[in-house]
Amino acid sequence: MSTTLLERQRSHTCNQLTKADLGKEVVLMGWVDSNRDHHGRIFIDLRDRYGITQLVFKPELDAALRDRAHQLGREYCVGIRGVVEDRAANGGSPNPRLPTGEVEISAVELALFNAAETPPFLVEDKIETSEEKRLAHRTVDLRRPRMQRNLIIRHKLMQAARRYLDGQGFLEMETPLLVKYTPGGARNFLVPSRLNPGKFYALAESPQLYKQMFMMAGLDRYFQIVKCFRDEDLRGDRQPEFTQIDIELSWATERVVQTLVEGLVADMFKEALGVTVERPFQRMSYDEAMSRFGSDKPDLRFAMEHTDLTDIVKKHQGGGIKLFADVVATPGNIIKAMVIEKKREMSRTEVDKLEDVAKGMGSKGVGRVRLDETGQWTQGPFGKAVTPEMRAEVNQACGAKAGDVILFQLGKASLVHTVLGGLRLHLRDKLGLVEHDEHGVSKQWKILWVTDFPLFEYDEIGKTHVAAHHPFTSPQAGHEDKLTSDPGSCRARAYDLVLNGNEVAGGSIRIHDGAVQSKVFTALGISEEDRQRKFGFLLEAMKYGCPPHGGIALGFDRWAMLFCGGTSLRDVIAYPKTQKGTCLLTDAPTAVSEAQLKDLFIASTAPQE
Ligand code: AMO
Repeated sequence: MSTTLLERQRSHTCNQLTKADLGKEVVLMGWVDSNRDHHGRIFIDLRDRYGITQLVFKPELDAALRDRAHQLGREYCVGIRGVVEDRAANGGSPNPRLPTGEVEISAVELALFNAAETPPFLVEDKIETSEEKRLAHRTVDLRRPRMQRNLIIRHKLMQAARRYLDGQGFLEMETPLLVKYTPGGARNFLVPSRLNPGKFYALAESPQLYKQMFMMAGLDRYFQIVKCFRDEDLRGDRQPEFTQIDIELSWATERVVQTLVEGLVADMFKEALGVTVERPFQRMSYDEAMSRFGSDKPDLRFAMEHTDLTDIVKKHQGGGIKLFADVVATPGNIIKAMVIEKKREMSRTEVDKLEDVAKGMGSKGVGRVRLDETGQWTQGPFGKAVTPEMRAEVNQACGAKAGDVILFQLGKASLVHTVLGGLRLHLRDKLGLVEHDEHGVSKQWKILWVTDFPLFEYDEIGKTHVAAHHPFTSPQAGHEDKLTSDPGSCRARAYDLVLNGNEVAGGSIRIHDGAVQSKVFTALGISEEDRQRKFGFLLEAMKYGCPPHGGIALGFDRWAMLFCGGTSLRDVIAYPKTQKGTCLLTDAPTAVSEAQLKDLFIASTAPQE
């Protein structure tokens, strides 16, 4: 019987039929969402990815068929043939929330394709079940309307990106995933080569060098929607394999890349949310972002800007507060503050709890005072010690008024920024400073380019400079000379795109001159021999007429997450990994046999489980 129905093929989806179809004979396929017996008639909600249609099995029409329908449990996979009828005319009540809510299908044929065991959780959005369980039973989980909606939005975004880039003359070109291991940047996954004993491929962390070589090959405009692999510590916004919309173009300047991406982003917003974004996007330098928000990816949906008090405190020689005086005595140390307004109604206990939050971010704590009606500092030891002169100046610099709380953070600039920037985001969530719709999608969109990044970061552990973006990023004009003399002060032609506090894209104008590339390698402490061994192929390719070029990569999963209102990338990746890098569905990674390892010339030193 099932063959017959399949051969007839589905005539409609479960979201299509309306009163305009009354009297039609139709064939539907799907899953049993619910099954109820009402005065002997069996009513089934049949669900597919498009929606829900009500089926009715009438005993007076076919008693045996009605009895079979009665046996159908949740998630049974079935097909039916029947006639579209008017629910109201049948004595039922229409469901105005469903597009198909005015009709029901009076079934004349039923094919049971597969019975289902009781599912581990209900296929609906409002279920309370652990994420572990959902990931372990992902096929059931992916039936939930929310997950289907997320994957559909993801698909639409991908198609919008393809359409846009194709329209701009970009060629979609693939690059290898099994690549040469090149150190620096993210930690790579390694893949042993059976045919080359003792040798390993790396799984590409991005197509960076290949896309640059496409430019050297004269292909002019490249894009790829590509999987990237990074063996990093995982967080909600980081997966070990994730997807980039990767772009490279010749003759590029920062403006050219940014204008191109703004068009792409505008199309993505339109497609996913129907929102028109304003262009050109806001721009902010790295220094300004750090200074005002303590972050190179500031969330501009709310204020709570930081105030640098270092000069004021120095001027007042600590202003009576010994801790302040001690801190500013060390060169490089800073003192910054952030105000929590009175209207946020944070109690003293709640403010005190911020101390633990700060400690969690590596700080010793957080200084805090509350202003009384006259601007005096209360609720903390600083109030008694501070001189009236410094207090007045600090209050004014921070814009603090009666009842407001000032939080202080002091010490090394990097830690102050991390902690105060982190507290700002903590308070955003705690105080509900940004609004979301019923799907968790932000009601506000703040997008900006962050520019003028440092070219290098100093690695305290390795005591070397490392590339802040990657070693192929061009220094800014006039900074080439400082590559060897003062690498720390070099600025890069790099830019990040930040959406609501998330880094959603990063790119740069590349080095197209072998001599500059060599200088950067020198600044990074990569010896002549090493650079030939590791990047010889790139340096060689650069010798034969390398065009100026640049590009960017959008973190596609992050865009999907923000547009879907997800809280982690796992909400928008069909088969994601956990924080520990495992797949709960398939149980990967797993141990392999000694024989397999031997084939690969590998001996495991892992402790036996
Ligand atoms: P970058 O390393 O900045 O640049 O990556 C580009 C964007 O990819 C996203 N992203 C991630 N998303 C999920 N999980 C991860 N583990 C992860 N890591 C990065 C971020 C980021 O902005 N080749 C360069 C691009 C270029 O210069 O053109 C690159 O990969 O949204």
